[in-house]
Amino acid sequence: MKRTIRDLKNIKGERILVRCDFNVPLDNWGDILDDTRIIAAIPTLKFLNDQGAKLIVCSHLGRPKGYDKFLSMFPVSVVLMKYFPNKVKFCNKVIGPEVKKAVNQMKNGDILVLENLRFHDGEEKNDPTFVNELSSLAQFYVDDAFGVAHRKHASNYGVALKLPNAIGFLIEKEINVFEKAFKQPEHPFVAIFGGAKVSDKLNLIKNVIGVADKIIIGGGMAYTFLKAQGYEIGNSILSEDQLDNAKQILRLARQKGTEILLPIDHMCLTDKGMVVRVREIGRDMTALDIGYKTVKLYSKAIKGAKQIIWNGPVGKYEDRRFKKGTTKIAKAVAHSKAYTIVGGGDSVSAVNMCGLGDKINHLSTGGGASLKLMEGKILPAVEVIDTL
Ligand code: 3PG
Repeated sequence: MKRTIRDLKNIKGERILVRCDFNVPLDNWGDILDDTRIIAAIPTLKFLNDQGAKLIVCSHLGRPKGYDKFLSMFPVSVVLMKYFPNKVKFCNKVIGPEVKKAVNQMKNGDILVLENLRFHDGEEKNDPTFVNELSSLAQFYVDDAFGVAHRKHASNYGVALKLPNAIGFLIEKEINVFEKAFKQPEHPFVAIFGGAKVSDKLNLIKNVIGVADKIIIGGGMAYTFLKAQGYEIGNSILSEDQLDNAKQILRLARQKGTEILLPIDHMCLTDKGMVVRVREIGRDMTALDIGYKTVKLYSKAIKGAKQIIWNGPVGKYEDRRFKKGTTKIAKAVAHSKAYTIVGGGDSVSAVNMCGLGDKINHLSTGGGASLKLMEGKILPAVEVIDTL
């Protein structure tokens, strides 16, 4: 069992480096569009802050190449100020003398937010000098950055090897939810997978076969499966190199008693730019969303489930004309009586855009990280945390 923040004793006045994932979506003005990831870290920050620890909070934001003023952590610190009035300060550096000075001036219960970790290339390279600088700021390290736990970076891997450490409540919760869903699933267990590429979800689908009762497949990758079954898919997305894998998956599912559901009608764009619904995709068509008969078929399976996991949109969700399938699935999942888990940026945002986020039992804060967990892989940033 990993050490959690509940196991940290006598932390009053101690300096704790807390790694969060505040990689929040921003608009063109640099304003935060969705603060879910910030809110998700509050229980951990509050627990440590209530005990009078000095919290040095750090995160990455986006994928900057060097300094980028539009990816500053300052707006994040402003959100935190609302939750911890008069306690939060922002430092516009990550390491160096200014940070050391700010840390030395901290009083018990203060929270210092550092600038974007990825302004330093040492972060993603897990560079030893950067690791030493960061870890020299604190006496303890707490990792609550679930969203980035599949990466092996300085702030979530290197530092954990240097300091006494623990995981926060968010990581603990995310891991428990996925572990329970796969090791002790409620049946019928329905898994819904979408997205463009079969290769992205191959290991995931394989890991769910034999565990889930039904796997619903949508999005671009559905057409590789349909092609593998001999159907015409026109100009729809095809991962030619994955055709054998798709056949293998369909075979494996039959052997292990997992039913795979594929689209039975489609919203297509014709070569002439018209949007049509068809049962059979024509040669001049590109299928970009599921049709209403498929929605009906999938919704029926969703309704009968006791546990649902959903990752990935079932159509070209970013195009207004082809987002309906995904929003219908979001509604069906949210209104089902099953225990529901939604992971992956697009599916989470589909649920939130329908205003149904609070109807989902677990909205994961991790895209890539939740995918790795569902594939049955170990997250390096969690692996490195001390066990009890
Ligand atoms: C995410 O948004 O999935 C995490 O914050 C990780 O971000 P990254 O893919 O840029 O490492």
